[in-house]
Formats: sequence, structure tokens, C-alpha cells
Amino acid sequence: MERTRLGPDGPLISRLGLGGCPIGGHGWGHVDDHESAGAVRRALDLGIDHFDTADVYGLGHSEEVLASALGPDRERVVVATKFGVRRADDGAMTKDASPAHLRRALEGSLRRLRLDCIPLYYLHWPDGRTPIEETMLELLRRRDAGQIRMIGLSNVGPELIERALAVGPVHAVQLPFSLVDRGALGPLRAIADRERITVVTWGSLAQGLLTGKFTAGSTFDRDDRRHRYDNFSGDRFLRNLRVADAVREAAEGLGQTPAQVALRWVLDQPGVGVALFGAKRPEQVVDNAGALDRPLPAEVVRRLSEEADAALLEPLPV
Ligand SMILES: NC(=O)c1ccc[n+]([C@@H]2O[C@H](COP(=O)([O-])OP(=O)(O)OC[C@H]3O[C@@H](n4cnc5c(N)ncnc54)[C@H](OP(=O)(O)O)[C@@H]3O)[C@@H](O)[C@H]2O)c1
Repeated sequence: MERTRLGPDGPLISRLGLGGCPIGGHGWGHVDDHESAGAVRRALDLGIDHFDTADVYGLGHSEEVLASALGPDRERVVVATKFGVRRADDGAMTKDASPAHLRRALEGSLRRLRLDCIPLYYLHWPDGRTPIEETMLELLRRRDAGQIRMIGLSNVGPELIERALAVGPVHAVQLPFSLVDRGALGPLRAIADRERITVVTWGSLAQGLLTGKFTAGSTFDRDDRRHRYDNFSGDRFLRNLRVADAVREAAEGLGQTPAQVALRWVLDQPGVGVALFGAKRPEQVVDNAGALDRPLPAEVVRRLSEEADAALLEPLPV
């Protein structure tokens, strides 16, 4: 099993992690808790020992489903959860990285995950108001109190990471990254390499787009967040479908599935430590886990990058 160290001194974890956003059951169309639990168990069976969730995924539901599916195994794997997005009194989602919200959110996550200590605890999004130093100091206090073990930052740029590092250690940074969305990694590479921070990617399958199952005629229900994502609308969607076609062709040539090639392309990028994938069903986990231990030929990695550049940048046929 292909593994990597979490941060400079954390445990070894599988290079694929199961993402718990879809199993929150909110905004991903039909989700069945029984199948979600099956997906978690299948991931464990296949040696995946990193599970990512957030308090906001299904407003706690993802953490609850994950905890009950993992059962006693939740003590031996690396569970990551996040705080920093909350539902305001009027129902609107709002970012809040304040120490007071952190303490409240952490109590909730510990309870739902049925853990005494969360192995990896992320700031989900900076809120634009709370200085990162204040958030970091509170994270360190929670660590010293034994409630969390390692600190992660998600959706932050290099400047915030440097400021956070001046306060305390960071084990992981989480950012969006896939063949159709490559912007976030470059600016962080130097810091991550220097500090041996693990780069963890989300949206590695572009919300399923790179599995090759969508066409220009695909539509999404109102309860599926993809109906409002840029990646799934207008020209951007058509361009992404061309990238998905390139992935499918490469997969055919290699005797693999498109999901495996798309995830493998992410894992084969210098600087990427762990790729997360979301899955709602056990068979998706089995498919995706097939990306482990099978690096793509360098020529295929290069060609896919070039084909994605061309698909995303060149004019569309009229
Ligand atoms: N830090 C952050 O701000 C942030 C943001 C987003 C996500 N994340 C984390 O990253 C994880 C991964 O991102 P994501 O879940 O948004 O997107 P993703 O991994 O790119 O796509 C997941 C979706 O793709 C489809 N899929 C997965 N495997 C498939 C397969 N083999 N064949 C066909 N379809 C497949 C499933 O949806 P359908 O079956 O419905 O098509 C699944 O829910 C999340 O679960 C979460 O843990 C973090």
C-alpha cells in the first residue's frame, strides 16, 4: 500500500483518502446512509486509513455516518475533520474562524465522531476577519488540551501559511486540485516542501466529472450541488468534457478506468501527498482505490497535462 508521512513527524497514511462530503447527504442528490457506510468499510478493507470530513458536511451527518461505519477502527485510522463554516441563525452559511466558534465546533465534532482526540483538525476556510494567528493559538491550546493531535489549514494561500507557521506547526494543507483545476498548488509548493507539510487535494475527480460518465446533455437535480458549479456549466463544462475524453482515452490504452487515471495523474504530480476522493457507494471506492501503487507512465502524465491545457485554453469548435 502506497503511503506517505503526514507532515514532518506524523504517522504514515494511505496516499488516497476517502472524502466525506457526499456522505453528508446534502447537495449530492440521492445518498443512502447504508451505502455510505459500505463505502467506508470497503475503503478500510482496501487499506485506506485516512478519512476526511467536516462538521459542515450535512451539518454533522457526515461525521456521524463516518463514526458509526468505522466503529472501533476509528481509533486506529487518521480521521480529519474541519471547522470554520457554520450555519447562521438565518440559515445562511457563513465562515467563522474565531476561537470561540472553534471551541464550540470542536466539542460537536468530538461528540459526533466519538473520539477523545481528533488526529487532524483543519481550519476549513479563513473568514477574512479573524487573524490566522488567533486561530492558530486556539488550535495549539486545543492540542495542548489533548483534543486534537495535528493541525491542518484548508483553502489558504502562502501568506497565511507563513503567518500560521510563525505561531506553530502545520501538518497538512488542503486545496482544490485536479486535471481541470491546477492553480492552487504552484504557489504553495515551496512552503510545503520546505516545511514538509503534506499537500492534500480535494475535488481530485472534479466532482465525478473526470470519471467520464457525463456528457454535454447531462443535467443535475436542484438537490445536486453540481447544477450550480462552474465546472458543470456553459463553456467550462464543454471544455472539461474534452479533458474527460482525454482521460478516458488514456485509460483505455492502459487497461484502467478513467477514475483511476484521473486520480493517478493527481498522485503523480510533484508536491502532492494525498488525494481525497468522495464516494457514495462501495463500488466507487473499489474503482478509485485501483489508482494506488500504479504510477502512470511519465509520457502519459505529460500528454494528459498537455491535452488538458489545450482543452481548457484553445477555442471551442463553433
Ligand atoms: N477543504 C475543502 O474546502 C473541501 C472542499 C470540497 C471537498 N473536500 C474534501 O475532498 C473530498 C473529495 O472532493 P469531492 O467529494 O467534492 O469531489 P470528488 O472526489 O472530485 O468527486 C466525488 C464524486 O464523484 C463521484 N464518483 C466518485 N468516484 C467515482 C467513480 N469511481 N465512478 C463514478 N463516479 C464517481 C461521486 O458522485 P456521484 O456518484 O453523485 O456522481 C462522488 O461523490 C470531499 O469528500 C471532502 O472530504 C474538501
